[in-house]
Amino acid sequence: MTPAGTSQELKLAECMSRLGTESAFEVLVRARALEAVGREVVHLEIGEPDFPTAPHIVEAAAEALRNGWTHYGPSAGLPELRAAVAEDSGRRRGMTIDPSEIVITPGGKPVMFFAILALVDRDDEVIYPNPGFPIYESMINFVGGRAVPYGFREQHDFDVDVSEIIGKVTDRTRLVILNSPHNPTGGVIPRESIAELARALAARDLFVLSDEIYSRLIYEGEHASIAQLPGMKERTIILDGFSKTYAMTGWRLGYGIMRADLAQKVAQLQTNATSCTASFTQIAGVAALRGDQSSVDHMRGEFRRRRKVIVEGLNAIPGFHCLEPHGAFYAFPNVTGTGLASKPLADALLSEAGVAALSGTAFGAWGEGYLRFSFANSVENIQKALSRIRGWVQNPR
Ligand SMILES: Cc1ncc(COP(=O)(O)O)c(C=O)c1O
Repeated sequence: MTPAGTSQELKLAECMSRLGTESAFEVLVRARALEAVGREVVHLEIGEPDFPTAPHIVEAAAEALRNGWTHYGPSAGLPELRAAVAEDSGRRRGMTIDPSEIVITPGGKPVMFFAILALVDRDDEVIYPNPGFPIYESMINFVGGRAVPYGFREQHDFDVDVSEIIGKVTDRTRLVILNSPHNPTGGVIPRESIAELARALAARDLFVLSDEIYSRLIYEGEHASIAQLPGMKERTIILDGFSKTYAMTGWRLGYGIMRADLAQKVAQLQTNATSCTASFTQIAGVAALRGDQSSVDHMRGEFRRRRKVIVEGLNAIPGFHCLEPHGAFYAFPNVTGTGLASKPLADALLSEAGVAALSGTAFGAWGEGYLRFSFANSVENIQKALSRIRGWVQNPR
């Protein structure tokens, strides 16, 4: 079928048939459609802080606009922000990072897009988390790579099994993707596991994409980056950014940290894709990194409070079992006890109970049996959602 006003079937490049998506945005659209016809929905689907960006960051952007930061900038990012990121990231990870090793991107997501485009050839293997952020698998398939999954399993407290990952490395492995704290499980990979992985990977001719976008949202333990370990800095691309840490999702500001020669190539991809990241948002990024950090601490404290509410509440629902996430702002309950598969359960909760959550399968086939709830919403809304789910599970339509 062709849409109105077109006479020919749409013919796309073959690679487009392998491109996946992020269904959080689709669920958001369905939830908004229900709201448009008068239904009330509690939004626990999208992974974004519900806090406003701190006023000093907003003010820095407004002032930057008034001061003429309205032009193109260098593809790799403004020197001011690259220097601020190098300083902040180096201090937080106890490493020396040079501004030439930084590429500023519109959000953290382009770092995975660019890194996979730059490094993965057809039939190269990429070891990636499943369940995991859906764009990893989408991009691996898109470029014609072979997606090799590893788990974040409930029986390991949503940590990784290092021997599973190492056991999947072959001569064709080009990239290993790590994500800690982990979306969707909230798992945090402990330093010892990271060190064991580094020992196994440092001698290999491969790269690691270490997605550390939630590195400042940890409730227990500490953040460890594989880039800190001997031999790993030159083979690691760190993905980080402002979206989650500073509640700046809509600003589209993130960065990648990688060896300088790769950074140049990634900047060249950016020249081809977007030219550069918006200049005034980059100036606001400098204010975020160099300014008062109390909003970050406040947000983490709030998320910790909400985590308790949602985990206790989910565990009180028949058929649900939820571990306490150690980082990020997601609860990932096992829902097999309900007798329903994840997707139909998520669909029913949205259309019948007015609670938007994501099916675990939105994060890969190994997410079956789970739902993901974002607790980046008020305690009041979380409680409302919990009582609606409890009511629905006890009395489904
Ligand atoms: C694991 C992970 N990596 C990267 C991103 C992308 O972040 P950004 O909004 O900065 O592009 C997200 C966003 O949800 C995420 O969950």
